Amino acid sequence: MTASQDRGQFGSKIGFILSAAGSAVGLGNIWKFPGKAYFNGGGAFLVIYILLVALIGTTVMLAEFVIGRHTHKNAIAAVREINAKWSWVGGLGVLTGFIILCYYCQVGGWTIHYIIGYITESKTIYADPMNYFLTMLGANGFPLRGAIIFPLVFLFLTAFIISRGVAEGIEKMSKVLMPLLFVLLIGLMIRSCTLPGANEGLYYMTKMDFSVIGTNAILTALGQAFFSLSLGMGVMITYASYLSSDENLVSNTGIVCCLDTLVALFAGFMIIPAVFATGIDPGMGGGFAFATLAGVFSSIPGGTIFGLLFYFLLFFAAVTSSTSILEGLVAFLTEEKGWERKKTLVGVSVILYVIGIFYTLSQAFMNIKGIWVSRAGVEFPIFGDFLEYLTDRLLLPLGSFGVVLFVGWIWGTDKAVQEATSNGKYKFALAPVWSFLVKIVAPIAIGAILVAGMFMGMAIS
Ligand code: TRP
Repeated sequence: MTASQDRGQFGSKIGFILSAAGSAVGLGNIWKFPGKAYFNGGGAFLVIYILLVALIGTTVMLAEFVIGRHTHKNAIAAVREINAKWSWVGGLGVLTGFIILCYYCQVGGWTIHYIIGYITESKTIYADPMNYFLTMLGANGFPLRGAIIFPLVFLFLTAFIISRGVAEGIEKMSKVLMPLLFVLLIGLMIRSCTLPGANEGLYYMTKMDFSVIGTNAILTALGQAFFSLSLGMGVMITYASYLSSDENLVSNTGIVCCLDTLVALFAGFMIIPAVFATGIDPGMGGGFAFATLAGVFSSIPGGTIFGLLFYFLLFFAAVTSSTSILEGLVAFLTEEKGWERKKTLVGVSVILYVIGIFYTLSQAFMNIKGIWVSRAGVEFPIFGDFLEYLTDRLLLPLGSFGVVLFVGWIWGTDKAVQEATSNGKYKFALAPVWSFLVKIVAPIAIGAILVAGMFMGMAIS
C-alpha cells in the first residue's frame, strides 16, 4: 500500500471537485458575501471581487493544489518536504482554521435553529423577522439555543463526519448536496428578483459606481475572496494531497473558482433585491441570510417549505466547509504530533466551542450598539469583528502570501508547473502567466493588502 492510499483518497474526479467546491461554497458565500457587497457599493464591488478572484484567487488555489498533490501530505508536512524552513506556512493555517471554526460553528448552529424555526414557528418568524433573529442572538435574554445548543449540534455533526474519513464522509455528502444547493439558489434568486420593489435592488447590484470603491472595499473583497475560496490555511493543500497524480489540477482550479463565485453572486442577487423589496435591512449583524429572506419566504406560495429547504441546504453548505477546516486541523495534529484521531477531534472541538459561544453573545450587542462597544468608558471592538479581522484581514492573506512566495521563489514555478500538468500530460497554455502571477503580481498585491490591513485597523464591513 502506498503512503497516499494509506491516508485515504478521493474515489473519483467529480468527488474531488465537489468536495473542494463543497469546502469553498459555504457560509462565506451566502451569509457573508451579500452583506459585504451591500455595504461596499453593490455592482462596483462585484466587479472588484470577480477581478480579484480571477487574478489572485485562482493563482493561490492552483499553488495550494500543486503543493498538496506533489507531496500527498498535510499542509505543514507538505511544505516541509519541499523546504523545511517554510513549514510555518502550513503551521499558520492551523491557527487560522481554529479561529475560523470558532465562529463558523456558531453560525452553522444558527442554520439549524432556523430549520427548526421554519418547522415549528414560521408564523413567529414572518411576524417580525428581525426580532426573531435578534432573539436568537440574545437580544431578549440569554441565547440558549443560538449560542449553546445548536452550535453544539452543528459541531458534533462536523466532528462525526470527520471521524468517518474522507471518501465515505465528505465526498459522498458533497456529491448529493452541492448540486441541490445550486438549483435551489437559482430558483430563489429568480423569485427574489421578481418581487415587487426588487428593481431597486437589481439596480444597486449592477450599478458601476467606482467612486465608492476605496481601500477598505478592496481589502474587504480580497479577504472575502480568500475566505470564500478556502485559501490561505492549507485546506486546499490537504484536499489535493488526497488526489491521485493524474488529475488535471488546472481545470479543477478553474471549475472550483467559478462555482464558488457563481454561488456568491447568486446569493447576492437572491438577498439584496429582497432587502429592497421587503425593507428588511438587518444592519451589520450578518442577518441577511436569516432575517431578510423571511420576506421572500412569506411572499411565495409554499414559502415555508422553501425556507425549510433553504436553511437545510445552507446547513449542508456550512457542514461541507466546516468539515474541511476541521479535517485540516486534525490531519495536522494527528500526523505531525502523533495524537490519536478521535481524542484530537474531541479536544479541539471542545475548546473552539467554548470560545465560539462568545461570538454569538457579542453579535446581539453589535446590532444594538454598532461595531464598537463602550464599557466603563473604554471602547473595545466586538469580539466577532475582531475574529473576522484576524482571519480575513491578516491570517488568510498572510497564509496566501506564504504560499505564493514559497511556490514562486523557493520551490520554483518550473517544478510547480510540472506538477500542475502532471508532468506534461495536460496542456496549460497560461503557465507563463500563472508563473508571473505567482512570483510577482500576487506577492505584491497580497503584501500591499496585508500592510494596508494592519494600518487600517478594524474598520471592517
Ligand atoms: N470557504 C468557506 C466558506 O465560504 C469557509 C472555509 C472553509 C474556509 N475552509 C476554509 C475559509 C479554509 C478559509 C480557509 O464558507
